[in-house]
Amino acid sequence: MTTSKKLIVANWKMNPETPREAKDLYAAAKLIGSKISGVDLVVCPPTIFIGFVGHKGTKNFSLGVQDVAPDKGPGAFTGTISAAMAAYAGAEYTLVGHSERRAAGETDELINTKMKLALSAELTPILCVGEKERDSHGDYLEVIRTQLEKGLAGLKKSQFKNIVIAYEPVWAIGKTAAVADSPESFFQTALFIRKIVSNLAGKEAAHSIKVLYGGSVSSKNAQGFLEEGKADGLLVGRASLDPITLKAICLIAGSVK
Ligand code: PGA
Repeated sequence: MTTSKKLIVANWKMNPETPREAKDLYAAAKLIGSKISGVDLVVCPPTIFIGFVGHKGTKNFSLGVQDVAPDKGPGAFTGTISAAMAAYAGAEYTLVGHSERRAAGETDELINTKMKLALSAELTPILCVGEKERDSHGDYLEVIRTQLEKGLAGLKKSQFKNIVIAYEPVWAIGKTAAVADSPESFFQTALFIRKIVSNLAGKEAAHSIKVLYGGSVSSKNAQGFLEEGKADGLLVGRASLDPITLKAICLIAGSVK
């Protein structure tokens, strides 16, 4: 497990509705990112707003996109943006395989293609994995294994240092903090994830790769996941749309050793 700075990723999803609100939210997040030490904050606005927010990264504050096309481009690929375009527009990260994209039909093979394109555009892909249902026999771990093995297939060992894994159980996304996974359970799942990474890319990669928790993260449960769960960071949806809550989460992340 890494001891470096915690990574907080703000996934705005399809929010807010107007460029003006996006500008305000971005400015608030940037202030938080630049003031709080011990945290790397990444904001992932809807791509259409990237031009409006006038991104300028700082040491602790970067831009991400929520998805990239499975095609290299440029070319005839209506309605999508390439990893290279995202990078040229200032993004340093991209989510890949978020459960809301998987629900829209993305397969592990497509996700694997996106991982490769993101890496070749020098974006850091955040591979999202997580089961739809939790069973008591541990079958859900096989779902995670498949998502990891297929999503990371064919990557070079040296590329693993530029990859982040976000464990987001689908049943915990968009719910209340009470429904979120528990820190103990996250800790066990993160160990399992590192085991798979170790099989794919060796012990060093397994040790150093960042494993984040996501799914109904709030200012109430953030500390548990970071401290007890030993998460390397958090993928935050709704709570990242409220600057006061985002600041509280970043302060917690900055204080956890
Ligand atoms: P949530 O979303 O924090 O609103 O549950 C997390 C996510 O889907 O990335």
